[in-house]
Amino acid sequence: MIRPYLGWLRIAMFCMVVVSIMTGAQAYVVKPVIDDIFVNKKQEMLLLVPLALFGIFLIKGVCYYGYTFLLAKVGQSVIRDMRNRIFEHIHSLPLSFFQKTPTGEIISRVIADITLVQGAVSHVLVGVLKDLCTAAVLLGVIFYMNWKLAVITFVLLPFMVYPIVLFGRKHRRNSTSIQETIALVSNLLFETVTGTRIVKAFCMEKYESRRFAVMVEKLFATILRDERIHCLAHPLMEVLGGIGFGLVIWYGGSEVLHGEATPGTFFSFLVALGMAYEPIKGFSSVNNTLQQGIAASLRVFSVLDITADVADKEGAGSLPPIREKIELQDVRFRYDDGTEVLKGLTLTVQVGEILAIVGPSGGGKSTLVNLIPRFADVSGGSIAIDGHDLRDVTLHSLRSQIGMVTQQTILFNDTIRNNIAYGLDDCPEEKIVAAAQAAHALDFIRQLPEGFDTVIGESGARLSGGERQRISIARALLKDAPILILDEATSSLDTESEHEVQKALENLMQDRTTFVIAHRLSTIRNADRIIVIQDGNIVEEGTHESLLPLKGVYSMLYNMQFTKVTAVV
Ligand SMILES: Nc1ncnc2c1ncn2[C@@H]1O[C@H](COP(=O)(O)OP(=O)(O)OP(=O)(O)O)[C@@H](O)[C@H]1O
Ligand SMILES: [Mg+2]
Repeated sequence: MIRPYLGWLRIAMFCMVVVSIMTGAQAYVVKPVIDDIFVNKKQEMLLLVPLALFGIFLIKGVCYYGYTFLLAKVGQSVIRDMRNRIFEHIHSLPLSFFQKTPTGEIISRVIADITLVQGAVSHVLVGVLKDLCTAAVLLGVIFYMNWKLAVITFVLLPFMVYPIVLFGRKHRRNSTSIQETIALVSNLLFETVTGTRIVKAFCMEKYESRRFAVMVEKLFATILRDERIHCLAHPLMEVLGGIGFGLVIWYGGSEVLHGEATPGTFFSFLVALGMAYEPIKGFSSVNNTLQQGIAASLRVFSVLDITADVADKEGAGSLPPIREKIELQDVRFRYDDGTEVLKGLTLTVQVGEILAIVGPSGGGKSTLVNLIPRFADVSGGSIAIDGHDLRDVTLHSLRSQIGMVTQQTILFNDTIRNNIAYGLDDCPEEKIVAAAQAAHALDFIRQLPEGFDTVIGESGARLSGGERQRISIARALLKDAPILILDEATSSLDTESEHEVQKALENLMQDRTTFVIAHRLSTIRNADRIIVIQDGNIVEEGTHESLLPLKGVYSMLYNMQFTKVTAVV
């Protein structure tokens, strides 16, 4: 993912190398300061050294700015691309992914995990590269100044590296469980906030708070366990560093006293060592961030690695506009958990036909109509439009021919206008108004303070159930697609509006192929054909008039509703 930004990265690296060299020069300058100015008392050096020092800091400053900013830019660009990619990817995943993965967890991946990856990318790019480079240059200075002292220092190095590695490993493990707990917490928060009405109605506030507290406590404990190690790292490194410095002063000091080295060399060595010590210590904190980032990116990439099983086939063609029929051949379907919901269903729907689907709850009606826009693929058999198997055409060409009102009304926290014109750019106002009118939504929209510009809240929370349904009908009407799927589209309307909307829908259905699912049988009396689905199969088929005398499932459902209505009246 860094590849597109290699150009910037190269410039940044160049600046970084310059910074490292300048850092080395800073340490080196100590030698002439002490030897030439203090010991040998050379007058001309008094001007030269400060000037050189100023030059060094100036170049270092400019390059420092260049590389930190460029690296941050690269890091943030990678994160931006990653966020976009994961968003796009999530939306290409089949419905089954969303039925399995809690919403809070998805949110936590896209927000919290990617933030950790961001930390790793920018810190590692900035930190590790710079530290490595600087440490290398300074070690060069150290060796140049006094190789014997350098060797002593090197013997100590493994003792410093070992805790870094050890702590890093522990940190990665902790970080994984921290992020997993954060996902659980996000999910509980999401569920209880969206379901707050039920939480209140069932007086479960205390219960949910306790559940939340348990999770947060777990999070607390894990973070604390992590902090214990984290906080230990720094002092431990300091102590080890102290031992090293002590040894160097003891040995180096004795060399100066015996006249084997100049004081300038010694101090220059000491400064270089002190400076090199910083990046080495820096590795430990960078390593922590890196381990955290690795853990988080594993989680991000595990989402990116889920392949969409419902996707365009290689070389899939475009589905031409429907002309003849939709054919379902021996369609079988099972959800991931195994039980077969549709058990070999065969059905042909002619273009322009209105097919009503009725049957007891849980019979498989919604499952069946969800197969037509390929929200999932059949487990057996096939579905074809005009002889084109749905799996051989592009999803886009298929779905753009389908208008749908789903059983659960799905609206977005946006204006009514944008909800109705969802997916249509630059839709003329008259069309939106006409669709709203046909769906009998115009009256109530006009009464809203801001009319079509009213923002309706999450999932349309500021509207009544029936109003929401009418908006979603208007949306389907506006799409003006040749195939229409209405899954309990009018179930939340009162009898009168239902009657009105029904008329609008009937106008609309005229030259469209329509699947209507309805529990209220009064709404489907004038369908061209009615099929009754029970236990994943078609058990009866015909018109209202032909089914009623059969005294089967349909007549039973019909009579039950009929008697209920008279009883109420
Ligand atoms: N995502 C899912 N995973 C597993 N099983 C599911 C899933 N969705 C539905 N089912 C099961 O599939 C069966 C058919 O469900 P479906 O929603 O198609 O019924 P339906 O006929 O539309 O019922 P209703 O009239 O109540 O809407 C049910 O037994 C249901 O439990
Ligand atoms: Mg259903």
